[in-house]
Amino acid sequence: MNKFKPLMLGMAMSLLPFVTQAQNEPTVLEVNLNEKTADISPDMWGLFFEDINFAADGGLYAEMIKNYSFEFENPMMGWRRVEDQGAKGYVFNRNHDAEGANDKYLRMQRLNSEGNFGMHNEGFRGMAVKEGLQYTLTFIAKVAKGENLKVTAKFLDKEELIGKGSVSGFTDEWAEYEIVVTADKTLDGVNFQFLLEGEGELDVDMISMFPEDTWKGRKRGLRKDLVQLLADMNPGFLRFPGGCIVEGFDLENRYQWKKTIGEMEDREVMKNRWNIEFAHRTTPDYYQSFGIGFFEYFQLSEDIGAEPLPILSCGLACQFNTGEQVPIGALDQYVNDALDLIEFANGPVDSKWGAKRAEMGHPEPFDLKYIGVGNENWGPQYIERAKVFEKAIQAAYPEITIVSTSGPFPDGREFEYLWGELKKMDAELVDEHYYRPPSWFRENARRYDDYDRNGPKVFAGEYAAHSTTVSEDFKRNNWEAALSEAAFMTGLERNADIVRLASYAPLFAHVDGWQWNPDMIWFDNLRSYGTTNYHVQKLFSTNPGTAVVSITADGKSLAGEGSLYASATIDESTNELIFKVVNTSPEAKKITIELDGKYKGNGEGSLLEMANDDLEAYNSLDNPMAVSPKTKAFEVTKKTIELELKGQSVNVGKVKLDK
Ligand code: AHR
Repeated sequence: MNKFKPLMLGMAMSLLPFVTQAQNEPTVLEVNLNEKTADISPDMWGLFFEDINFAADGGLYAEMIKNYSFEFENPMMGWRRVEDQGAKGYVFNRNHDAEGANDKYLRMQRLNSEGNFGMHNEGFRGMAVKEGLQYTLTFIAKVAKGENLKVTAKFLDKEELIGKGSVSGFTDEWAEYEIVVTADKTLDGVNFQFLLEGEGELDVDMISMFPEDTWKGRKRGLRKDLVQLLADMNPGFLRFPGGCIVEGFDLENRYQWKKTIGEMEDREVMKNRWNIEFAHRTTPDYYQSFGIGFFEYFQLSEDIGAEPLPILSCGLACQFNTGEQVPIGALDQYVNDALDLIEFANGPVDSKWGAKRAEMGHPEPFDLKYIGVGNENWGPQYIERAKVFEKAIQAAYPEITIVSTSGPFPDGREFEYLWGELKKMDAELVDEHYYRPPSWFRENARRYDDYDRNGPKVFAGEYAAHSTTVSEDFKRNNWEAALSEAAFMTGLERNADIVRLASYAPLFAHVDGWQWNPDMIWFDNLRSYGTTNYHVQKLFSTNPGTAVVSITADGKSLAGEGSLYASATIDESTNELIFKVVNTSPEAKKITIELDGKYKGNGEGSLLEMANDDLEAYNSLDNPMAVSPKTKAFEVTKKTIELELKGQSVNVGKVKLDK
C-alpha cells in the first residue's frame, strides 16, 4: 500500500456532464417541519489543521525568518553571507555551552569596516512586506571581540532601500535586542539583510521577525488574514496537529506536544515529515519550529470558537513509512502524554500541567472535550494500543470523548477489520478518511443511510474530492470537486445522528511551498483566498441548524435522483428552516418545496447560491472570489417555495418559521 505515490494521470479526459434529465415539471420536495429526525452536533462542521504545505512554518505562524535559530540539519540553510563594497568577514556556526533544544548559534566575524557585511535570510519562498507596516526583529547577541558593534536590519527592493533600523550596546553576555523597521513599500520579494557594522565578532541567535499586524496583535503571533478566513467559517472544532505528522516517519519523528510548549528556545526544531515524503515535491527546507505549539493550538481554537480536538501518537509510527511500534508493555510514556494533555487543557492551576498552562498566560481551562488516539493507523497493532489508551483515559477522564481511527481508506479489508474491532470495544467516535475522485462523492451521498445506529458515531475527519483530470496546484480545487463534496455533505447532514463531526483536508497550502493538493485555503507571503471548496464548507458551517428534518421527493430522501441532492435542518435558536439543495446537472432545475408544519402565511426567504457552468472553474490569488456564493431573495407563498436552481449549483435557503 503506498498512498503517497505521485498522482499518475491517464489521458486527460474531457469532463463529461453529470447525469442529466429533461426538466419539464418541477421536482416537488416535501419538508416535514413537525418531526426532527436527529439532533446536529453543535461542533459538526470543523477544521483539520496539519503543518503540511507550509501551513504553520511559512504560513499561519507569522515568523518571517527561516531557520531562525540555526537548528536545521544544515545550520546555514536559508541564510547567505552578504559581503560587498570591499567588506571582508566570515560567518560560522558554534555551539552554546549548555546543551539544550537550541544548540547552535552564529558567529559573525568582521575583518574590516568597509562596505556591507552580514547575512541575508531568504524567508519562506521569499519574504514580503507591506507599506507603512512595522516589523519587529528580535535576536539574542553577545560580543566575542571588539567594541562599538552595531547591527542594522535592511529591507531592499533590489538596490533601493525601503526600510532600515539599527541597534547597538552589545556586551559580552547574551541578551535580547530589538529593531523595529517600517516598510516604505509593499513588496513580495524583499531582500532582507542583517548587517554587522564595526570591526569585531558578534555572536547571534534566535533571529526572528514578525509583522505588527498579527491576529489580535499578539507578539510572535499568527497571520491575521489566514486566521480570519478560519474564523469566518464559524468552525465547530479544530483538529490538530494532523494528520500523518502526528505519527512521524519513525517514533522519534512523531509529534510530541510537551516539546512544543513554553519558551521558544526550549522548543526543539524538528524536520517536518513532509520535507522528503514526496519524491516529486521534496521540500528540504521544511522544518517545524513549533512556534505554533499545543498552547497556541488551544488558544487558536478558543479565538475562533472551535472545540479543540488534539490527535496523539498511539505508539505506532506511520505505517506507510517505518511502522515502528512501541512494545505494549512500554506504552506508559505515550499514555501519560495523553493524560497529561488533558490536565494541561483542563486541570486546575495547582496541578502540574495546569500550572504550565497558567504560566503561559491561560489560567482558565480550555475545556477540552475530545482526544484522538492515533491517525490512519491500522491492524491488530492499532487495536491493541487503542485499548490501552481507552482504559487509561476512561478511568481518569470518563467525560472525554475518544476518537479512534478506521485507517487511511474508506473501505476495504483494513477498514472493515478496524470497524469490527472498534464496535466490539464500544468506541465512541471513529475517524474516517476519504480522498477520492469527485464521482465517488456524488455516488456515496447515501454512505451513512444504512450505518448501524447502535454502533460508534462517525467523525468524517479528512476528506476532499481529488480531480482525476487536473493534477497541478490550486487549479485542482475546481468547481467539480466542490460541487461533488457539497452533494456528499447533504448526506452527512441528513445522517447527523451518526456523523457527528466533519472536516475537509488539508486546510492550507503555500502556492510555492506545497506538497499535497487540493487544499482548502491557498496563500502566498502577502495574500490568501478560500477555494471553491472553502466556500462550500462555509455554506454548511455557517448554516448548520440544530436538528435535521426530512426533505423528500415521493417519500424518499434525495441523493442523486434527477441529479439533485438535498438536506434540511431547523435552527431552534433562530426559528428558521435551512434547506440545502445541490444540482449537479449542467441544466437548470425547477423545484417546488412544500412546507408541512408550523409555517403560516406568506413571506420571504433568502438564498445563498453558488453556481458555475464550468466544472474546471477555480479561485486564485488574482481572482479570489471567481466562484463564490451570491445572495438572493425568494417568495414563500402560503407554504410553497418555487425555485429554479441553476445548473451545477449549491443552494442554501433560509425561511423564518412561525413559532
Ligand atoms: O491531509 C494530508 C494527509 O492525508 C494527512 O496527513 C493524512 O492523515 C492523510 O493521509
